[in-house]
Amino acid sequence: MKVLFLAAEATPLVKVGGLADVAGELPRALARHGVDVQLALPFYPGLKAELAGLRPLATVEVPRPDGVQTATVHALEVDGRRVWLIGGEPIDAAPAVYGAPEQDAAKFIFFGIGALQACRSLGWEPEVVHAHDWHAAPSLAWMRTASFGWDRTPALLTVHNLPYMGTGGEAALAGYGLRPADDPQLPDWARQLPLPLGMSHADWITTVSPSYAGEIQTPAFGCGLEAFLASRAGRLRGILNGIDPRVWNPGADAALERRYAIDSLEYRLTNKTALQRIFGWPEHGRTPLLAMITRLDVQKGVDLALDALEALQDVRWQFILLGRGDPAVEAQAEAFAAAHRDRAAFIPQFDPFLSRRIYAGADMLLVPSRYEPCGLAQLIGLRYGAVPVVRATGGLRDTVEPYASEAQGTGFLFDRADPQALADSLRGAIQVHADTRRWAGLQRRGMAADFSWAASAAEYSDLYLQASAERRARSGG
Ligand code: GLC
Repeated sequence: MKVLFLAAEATPLVKVGGLADVAGELPRALARHGVDVQLALPFYPGLKAELAGLRPLATVEVPRPDGVQTATVHALEVDGRRVWLIGGEPIDAAPAVYGAPEQDAAKFIFFGIGALQACRSLGWEPEVVHAHDWHAAPSLAWMRTASFGWDRTPALLTVHNLPYMGTGGEAALAGYGLRPADDPQLPDWARQLPLPLGMSHADWITTVSPSYAGEIQTPAFGCGLEAFLASRAGRLRGILNGIDPRVWNPGADAALERRYAIDSLEYRLTNKTALQRIFGWPEHGRTPLLAMITRLDVQKGVDLALDALEALQDVRWQFILLGRGDPAVEAQAEAFAAAHRDRAAFIPQFDPFLSRRIYAGADMLLVPSRYEPCGLAQLIGLRYGAVPVVRATGGLRDTVEPYASEAQGTGFLFDRADPQALADSLRGAIQVHADTRRWAGLQRRGMAADFSWAASAAEYSDLYLQASAERRARSGG
């Protein structure tokens, strides 16, 4: 089975958010199911500079109603799999991976069409085209409507984050001759936006957790597309993301002060003490050390965490926040850390090295997201014995099992997206933390949970087969 992945980012070449991990790691797991994934990425100027010696394989045409653009095609082997790099003027014009909406839309539409043309021109025909997020969604519409000829090729679209629909991309779609979706379930404002347009042409839509697939069919999470998504319920499936257990392994993580495993949990304390020392805090083993490692985005509920901690003045805790993002959220975090220097720190950086040390030393990992399509941090937290305290939403609900007794649960969940609900949940967690035996049980169950990619890959590969069989049946061949 040959599958073309289209994505804006993928490890190890381009990494901004969780999408990169999925697009980079899932193909490796799919290979074990006999699925040959080739991945196409935009050839961003930054990547071009890094791969300066790479020679172009071909140029292909990207047709527009007002003329033709040229895309360059480079290819590279990563992990024994081909990665196509699609370059050209619209990509050079918007060099940051994510920047201004209109320019990004033009860049990503150009990329998607260029990628399909490249496969055709170099003689590699996928049996499934699998697009990720709004960036790649228009290519599915183009494949279906531009007389490209791949009418029997199933089109899958994975939604990693529904609110990002490519708003501002209306003109760019028209510029590439893509007409508005004609699905009566789509509201007018959505018909000429990249993500809904792609969804209207996809054979299957997937989300990155089962709960999120259900949630987006409701007004609270559907962003105005809930009726459309509910009308597609039979073609909408949630497949949980995984993590690579070799990449995330506290027993072999070179960043840690001290490595540890399920049967040597006591060594974790060295990592906790090391963190307390960095911030000049009392090196108390019993004081709960709380952490958040996240993009500072309204989605992630950093404000909820800060307000909840304000409400827990009477309780002992220490708190580390690592991440950057929205300037308003950064300012709030800075003010909070300044007011609580003796026990709170804010490090406005993406720092993979420090993040590993925090996962390994923190007692609890806070993930109070307002919505969470899957979430990666809680999976790493579980694997590293940093017990997750999470909002019961999306992938968080699907991966953290609520603490129920000495023998059951891997973390703590709360329902309402408000500081009081989180504060109550934290109070409960901190009480359990005081009982070292119960706490170690929680940690061990979390560390033993299996969130490797194997299960996801099996589901995607089944879906590819099903989608192919459906298309064959429909076209009578
Ligand atoms: C987006 C979502 C996150 C998900 C990731 C990868 O970043 O916000 O929940 O884990 O995509 O699918």
